[in-house]
Amino acid sequence: MSKSAELAQLIRDRAGSDAPEYGLILGSGLGHLSAQIDGVAIPYDDLPGFPHAGVSGHVPQLVIGTLEGRRVAVFGGRSHYYESGRADAMRLPLEVLAALGTDKLILTNAAGSLRPDIAPGDLMLLSDHIAFAGTNPLIGERSDARFVPMTQAHDSQMRDALTAAALAENIQLPDGVYCWFSGPSFETPAEIRAARTLGADAVGMSTVPEIILGRFLGLRCAAISVITNMGAGLSDESISHDHTKAMAPIGASKLEAVLRRFLRDG
Ligand code: HPA
Repeated sequence: MSKSAELAQLIRDRAGSDAPEYGLILGSGLGHLSAQIDGVAIPYDDLPGFPHAGVSGHVPQLVIGTLEGRRVAVFGGRSHYYESGRADAMRLPLEVLAALGTDKLILTNAAGSLRPDIAPGDLMLLSDHIAFAGTNPLIGERSDARFVPMTQAHDSQMRDALTAAALAENIQLPDGVYCWFSGPSFETPAEIRAARTLGADAVGMSTVPEIILGRFLGLRCAAISVITNMGAGLSDESISHDHTKAMAPIGASKLEAVLRRFLRDG
């Protein structure tokens, strides 16, 4: 049995065998939603090969249960490329998600805005992305499945449903292009200007590798950024991880309302 099939079995033994309809990966300071799920929490320590808690602001556990009447699998912790130098750090968790029978993935992240009309505390729906970190989680994959088309990387049906959910909740959800920088240092003002010139609306250090892996595994993907700051050089505020963690909860309540409505209406 493959490792992902073994872990999927372990999860089914503890949490029941119904396939989750959605997988959710929650970003820095955005993990509170997992506490609201009526279900079973499995610490990553019980799931060999799952990433260890590397970044403060993430709770390293998988919660499987019901939210707004939908069965969901919520990953409270994610591993970033900058933690290990491995862009495929989330491959096993996503393989397990696919092995559980899930085919839809929603990702959230904290990000810096490059647009004056998208301010800290706001949300942004990813319409597309730019993989600017200079690597790819599928490097080394041998099968021809590695040549993943990325035209529908951000699933248009799920995006429409998320947009409708935000409208119903009276929450602004502009869409925009997310540019993945490797981190862990934040960008320079010149890098932010370059990203803007390239067509990016927000910058961050996550999500893109998971979307590439998700598409590789046949998952439909959508992602929402919680804007915690303006990109470097665009405002006088300081940029730090503490600031990210302090600001994330402000957008997180809007994010929660959108996700709950999306699940309820979906
Ligand atoms: N840059 C990169 N990642 C981030 C930022 C940023 O400005 N804010 C939150 N995550």
